[in-house]
Amino acid sequence: MTNFAIAPSILAADFARLGEEVDNILASGADIVHFDVMDNHYVPNLTIGPLVCEALRNHGVTAPIDVHLMVKPVDRIIPDFAKAGASYITFHPEASEHVDRTLGLIREQGCKSGLVFNPSTSLSHLDYVLDKVDMILLMSVNPGFGGQSFIPATLDKLRQVRKIIDDSGLDIRLEVDGGVKVDNIGEIAAAGADTFVSGSGLFAFGNDNDPNQYDTIVGQMRDALK
Ligand code: DX5
Ligand code: ZN
Repeated sequence: MTNFAIAPSILAADFARLGEEVDNILASGADIVHFDVMDNHYVPNLTIGPLVCEALRNHGVTAPIDVHLMVKPVDRIIPDFAKAGASYITFHPEASEHVDRTLGLIREQGCKSGLVFNPSTSLSHLDYVLDKVDMILLMSVNPGFGGQSFIPATLDKLRQVRKIIDDSGLDIRLEVDGGVKVDNIGEIAAAGADTFVSGSGLFAFGNDNDPNQYDTIVGQMRDALK
């Protein structure tokens, strides 16, 4: 039985009430806090950094925090996120001059490491470094913004990565990010994903960040994963 994890992307939360939003979505049964870091350089948007990660830890969040770095360069900011309480740190291979070194740095800092693949990024980046990766994240949209539609070609790519992971015998999570909703999460799981990022599909369900609806929507996702 796969150990499925639901990872709400706080990009779609109400930032003015971030601690409360994260508490509410975790209380509704979500597993991992997905934390999108954008630098207006690697991607055309600007979001949040280590201070906000630390603030969530100080607020009392104990769930894993999954830091998705959409920044270039990558290495300088990794120790800061490790100190701020990150559990996973994932990055895009195109944003690092030395992918093997960056993966090593993340683990040296005591975090779990991950590589992120844009829709057009080749899986060949996994060659030679698979043993240094704890998570593989497939983007099912182009990174930079929440609220985009799931790109169907991701399903084939998921099947390929699932085979690579299973053949390796390594303990690697397979995460998908972008356009994941109640109506497609079952199909995405069937293609091999075990960790599901959802921003607008969770927080903006009903379009009003209504915490009373979080139980409903997380429950619907769990049902779709059965
Ligand atoms: C996009 C981010 C995603 C985004 C997902 O660059 O990496 O995590 O917040 O948002 P939805 O679920 O709305 O597509
Ligand atoms: Zn993300």
